[in-house]
Amino acid sequence: MKTTRAMASTSVANLGHGYDSLALAVDLGADVVSVGPADRDMLTVSGPHAASAPDDFAGNTATVAIAALRDAQNLRDPVAVHIEKNIRSGSGTGSSAASAAAAVFAYAAANDLPLSREDLTRFAAEGERASAGTAHPDNVAAALFGGFTICWQDSYPRAVALPVPQHWRFVLARPDQVLKTEASRGVVPKQVPISDHVAGCAGTARIVAALTRNDVRMFGEAIQGGLVDRARAGLIPGFDRVRDYAHNAGALGVCLAGSGPTIMAVSADASVAEAIGNAMRDAFASVAVNSETFVTAVAPGARILGEE
Ligand code: HSE
Repeated sequence: MKTTRAMASTSVANLGHGYDSLALAVDLGADVVSVGPADRDMLTVSGPHAASAPDDFAGNTATVAIAALRDAQNLRDPVAVHIEKNIRSGSGTGSSAASAAAAVFAYAAANDLPLSREDLTRFAAEGERASAGTAHPDNVAAALFGGFTICWQDSYPRAVALPVPQHWRFVLARPDQVLKTEASRGVVPKQVPISDHVAGCAGTARIVAALTRNDVRMFGEAIQGGLVDRARAGLIPGFDRVRDYAHNAGALGVCLAGSGPTIMAVSADASVAEAIGNAMRDAFASVAVNSETFVTAVAPGARILGEE
């Protein structure tokens, strides 16, 4: 086994209607994971958000994902893993997924495993089980492939990617609130009316159509009003107001970023995007919630930073 470092980016899952099936990689930072040979399994964590990441091999999303991949390949060698934890957790931007994606990407390269990004998605998703209680593959697919990803379940998670126009802007308003994915999944209804199912099918189809037609207006309209976002809105103080302020500032669409509490708005104009971010921050402030806003663009997929 070589020593290999890889990185993978933040991501926004669901996009309104695509619960556990759609996601978008965005450039709001990346986690970096190195793997290499060792006498016994070891995990160390550094970086600005190290404190939020478990440092036990059996409990961290990255090492759980590596263990799943190693078992599937019938490999036995112990591995030393180091995570540079740059992404804040509990904010809905795929923090655990970035670690898991970078981890399996680095491990596969370190062992010269001929696996595709789709192959790696299933193992990275196992890491999500450690953090969210469910092996949902949407964020890990986006972190591995980059761009926009669609995933679905056969006997294992499958995924395919589509490119996203570089000039589209995704404004992320992150309130000063931690919302664990597991808790946010707890309010998602187990059964839905057929009318909601129909709206969800049409919404996901329109999102894909908007991307293939390079139509940001259609994309913005399509990401709104998803039933899962409606169920979760009550967990985020100020959600409706932030959405309305964003629209008034020119947003073409607004949805929850993954399981929240970050809220995402869309524009294709960089200066309008800045104004939207300011408006969203004002909206949170008006309900006494501090927040930070970021204007982001689509991010590339996991990549190798170095090998020894
Ligand atoms: N699809 C997942 C959820 C994404 O909504 O719970 C978590 O970021």
